[in-house]
Amino acid sequence: MLTLQSNGESITVDLYSRDGLDMLSNLWVKSAAQHRLMYEPTWLGRPIIQFPTDIVMIQELLWKLKPDVVVETGVAHGGSLILSASMLELIGKGKVIGVDIEIRPHNRAAIEAHSLSNRIELIEGSSVSAETIKAVRNSIGNAKTVIIFLDSNHSEGHVLSELELYSPLVTPGSYIVAHDGAQAWVWDIPNGRPEWKNDHPLNAIHKFIKMNPEFTIDPYWNRLGITSSPDGFLKKAAISL
Ligand SMILES: C[S@@+](CC[C@H](N)C(=O)[O-])C[C@H]1O[C@@H](n2cnc3c(N)ncnc32)[C@H](O)[C@@H]1O
Repeated sequence: MLTLQSNGESITVDLYSRDGLDMLSNLWVKSAAQHRLMYEPTWLGRPIIQFPTDIVMIQELLWKLKPDVVVETGVAHGGSLILSASMLELIGKGKVIGVDIEIRPHNRAAIEAHSLSNRIELIEGSSVSAETIKAVRNSIGNAKTVIIFLDSNHSEGHVLSELELYSPLVTPGSYIVAHDGAQAWVWDIPNGRPEWKNDHPLNAIHKFIKMNPEFTIDPYWNRLGITSSPDGFLKKAAISL
């Protein structure tokens, strides 16, 4: 058995049950976030701000869907764009559209110099501005399969706006992935922020799902336990509801 004592409460679970795995995973995420381990991985030379288990799930999703277009809000150093571009290169088609409010010159230069840059388009601007959405929509065109990753500003309001603005661009049967719902779990770590207790992507995801029945949370992509994107993989119904 595994007993966790926290804030005067005590919870005991069977270590080998799914609850036990979830508790350990949650504790790993809290400790890993304190040690900033999500900043450690690189993908083909570029820093990617994800936990390894999420990287594995993303590659599996991309290989399964074989998208024509991947849109990612939140570019940072470009590692997640390179991850998607590398999968598209192996699939043999498709492009990645990266959106960021500020693409720093050294990051832009490194992404543009990368051997996979021919599969990447960069759009600089707020992910929720009308101008950005128009540019993304134009770039997508009539693509058959479109998948969207949201990994920019992780406030509830911003993620909810992104979900509303980008979900119509997702093709039936594909996914919109809202990253970093685990912000809800790490508000109380030493490096956390008290405001994260009530302001995080998970609230946005759950509100969005209630208002948009054509999207459902697909727990398959959280099955490794450790994730920074709990409930974050939202599947669009294959036929209009
Ligand atoms: C967590 S990082 C992205 C990490 C990246 N997806 C990866 O996996 O390596 C968040 C990024 O979002 C960008 N950002 C913050 N607010 C934004 C907004 N309103 N619109 C677009 N990008 C934004 C930041 O500039 C930052 O580069």
